[in-house]
Amino acid sequence: MSSPAFPSPKSKASAHGTPVLWEALGDREHLQGIDEYVEAGGYEQLKRALTMDGSAIVDEIKASNIRGRGGAGFPTGLKMSFIPKDNPKPKYVVCNADESEPCTFKDRELIERLPHMLVEGCLIAARAIGSNHAFIYIRGEYYEPALVLMAAVEQARAKGLVGDDINGSGWGCEVIVHRGAGAYICGEETALLSSLNGYRGQPTVKPPFPAVSGLYESPTLVNNVETLATLPRILGMGGATYAARGVERTGAGTRMMSLSGHVNRPGNYEMEIGVPLRVLVEELGGGVSGGKQLKAIIPGGSSTPVLTADKLDTNLDYDSMVAVGTMFGSGSVIIIDEDTCMAQLALRVAEFYRHESCGKCTPCREGTKWTVDMLTRLVGGDATPEDLDTIYTVGERIIGNCLCPLGDSMAMAVNSYIDAFREDFTRYFEPGFQPPASSSLTDIAQRTVAAAGVSKPGVTWAHEGLSRGSFTPLRMAADGVEGDAHG
Ligand SMILES: Cc1cc2nc3c(=O)[nH]c(=O)nc-3n(C[C@H](O)[C@H](O)[C@H](O)COP(=O)(O)O)c2cc1C
Ligand code: SF4
Repeated sequence: MSSPAFPSPKSKASAHGTPVLWEALGDREHLQGIDEYVEAGGYEQLKRALTMDGSAIVDEIKASNIRGRGGAGFPTGLKMSFIPKDNPKPKYVVCNADESEPCTFKDRELIERLPHMLVEGCLIAARAIGSNHAFIYIRGEYYEPALVLMAAVEQARAKGLVGDDINGSGWGCEVIVHRGAGAYICGEETALLSSLNGYRGQPTVKPPFPAVSGLYESPTLVNNVETLATLPRILGMGGATYAARGVERTGAGTRMMSLSGHVNRPGNYEMEIGVPLRVLVEELGGGVSGGKQLKAIIPGGSSTPVLTADKLDTNLDYDSMVAVGTMFGSGSVIIIDEDTCMAQLALRVAEFYRHESCGKCTPCREGTKWTVDMLTRLVGGDATPEDLDTIYTVGERIIGNCLCPLGDSMAMAVNSYIDAFREDFTRYFEPGFQPPASSSLTDIAQRTVAAAGVSKPGVTWAHEGLSRGSFTPLRMAADGVEGDAHG
């Protein structure tokens, strides 16, 4: 049976070394149809998991040494083992498909190309922790990926792989695709759970951690799309084999890296963990665009501290990134060329965090606004050297004093630009200094958008006949069966 006419994947990912996720694709463009996925060995690991005890699955994940791909890099098997077995409440799996970190677009491509692998991963995780409900919380702007996912769930249901008595095992699990409303903070796990619970999407204090009290105040496993999509692959090859992948042993396996900014070939690249940044930027990305010099690299999404060009030989792994003062983060690498003004970039980044601050705690709510105001004055030529010191001090007072890491993210990013490129800020105090006509930010935005395959910055629902908020029930031609997205 041919694949139904769902939206095609937008970006083109490639792999370096031996891929784990992309290996499942073979030479196919995508595996959106369940027949094609099953033919490629799909849902075999779910069937195997159905014969396994939950703790045996958790042991396999622990043996794989995989760390979460959402940003914090917490060991996945360990997190699963935190779900209490003796708690009488229902347990939940929540897949974090919010993917709002600027310049991160890997989960989108995974969903578009391998939606069933994510559904299978959610089911395996649910089986492992003794849950009967898995929610996939997908950002509102990911309209087409949400369609692809909902269709995948319905296809799986039609084959008896989602719902009651999966494959005649006596065990059942519902998979629910839930669309968010487009707030960056809803990627933070407690804010996501608040939103899913029907409240305002704002973070809550930890502890309690979601593993103890999450969705509906019940034990909840929250994992990123890529983390969960990798689970069928780990079961398939065995935890120990997966653990042997990757150059460094600080969290094994491969990672999807979203490469964007001033680079010749932006896009998603699946790479073994521990490969030097230089391989990603020069070999895969084709080097800095326009023949320009590399000025800086943001290695793990906009919330991670910047690296100077001389750090290009640092390995892309959790520990090596920390050793050079930054983080592996969400796995999105932003290339910045010599023409970019870091003061203007700082303003742009601060504006993003100010806009996305949920306002719940003072240092973030006020500090992000003050920082934007002061940076605006600075790049407008109206600031004094003392103002630059104040920007830095405000950052220091935000760091470590917020309810969630959003405020820290802005402060750490901005202060790292000041530390590494102070001259880009102080030159605005020189009499007669002419600010660069362009900080190349438009160019960065355009390239990022091109890499993510979207038609307008920040707008990913540009599907004919649909506009933001118009999520009317859709007819889905899933495997020839006309279905309704809302059941
Ligand atoms: C402000 C903020 C935004 C976040 N956004 C995302 C996101 O979009 N996707 C994601 O998977 N994790 C995001 N995270 C991390 C989640 O809180 C959580 O650690 C993650 O979903 C756990 O999954 P993992 O263990 O598989 O990485 C964010 C964290 C913060 C503080
Ligand atoms: S740090 Fe910012 S986003 Fe996080 S809870 Fe406080 S105000 Fe909200």
